[in-house]
Amino acid sequence: MKRVAILISGSGSNMAALARDMTGDHPARPVLVVSNEPGAGGLEKAADLGIETAILDHRQFRGDRAGFESRLNDVLQAHSLDIICLAGFMRILTSQFIDRWAGRILNIHPSLLPKYPGLNTHARAIEAGDREAGCTVHQVTADLDAGPILGQARVPIYPDDTRASLAARVLEQEHLLYPAVLRAFASGSESLVHLPAPGETPINAELGD
Ligand code: GAR
Repeated sequence: MKRVAILISGSGSNMAALARDMTGDHPARPVLVVSNEPGAGGLEKAADLGIETAILDHRQFRGDRAGFESRLNDVLQAHSLDIICLAGFMRILTSQFIDRWAGRILNIHPSLLPKYPGLNTHARAIEAGDREAGCTVHQVTADLDAGPILGQARVPIYPDDTRASLAARVLEQEHLLYPAVLRAFASGSESLVHLPAPGETPINAELGD
């Protein structure tokens, strides 16, 4: 059974989707949720799900990024983890940290990478006049939001969309995509996971499978 830590900064809805999926024949279990924000709503969700939580407030390290990451590394090491899932974790990790956990860190990003790495993805997609948006789960490497892609899900952008309406539509897909990718990854598969867009017929269904 693979041991998974989930790192969050906010409401933790992706964390909860991952944790809820890790039951039964799932090859992994959630053993720890870490937040860098003491007030993150996801901490209560994790506790309600019976998962151990830890708070590591980056502000207490006063700009000492190496110190923050060294402490984070200690907390993670102490739990003998196999996989780290970043789920709305809004701190950039250095290559020193990432190298220690190479090939074992996943992230979900609210855009169709390689489009729109970084912040404000939904506003940028609307501003650019894009007709579709989505989310990506990828392996974390030292280059921000640029590691190997493990899965994507797409949604349409409508003319009257706001950042909030688009974010909500994408988030629904995040909650399906991230668990599907983690399930595959934890069982040793690195083949691409593709979720059909809402309303799209799955390829298998077209083939009568
Ligand atoms: C999600 O939309 C996630 O894709 C995004 O933050 C949100 C967290 O929501 N992550 C990033 O922007 C990372 N750069 P959640 O706390 O409810 O899962």
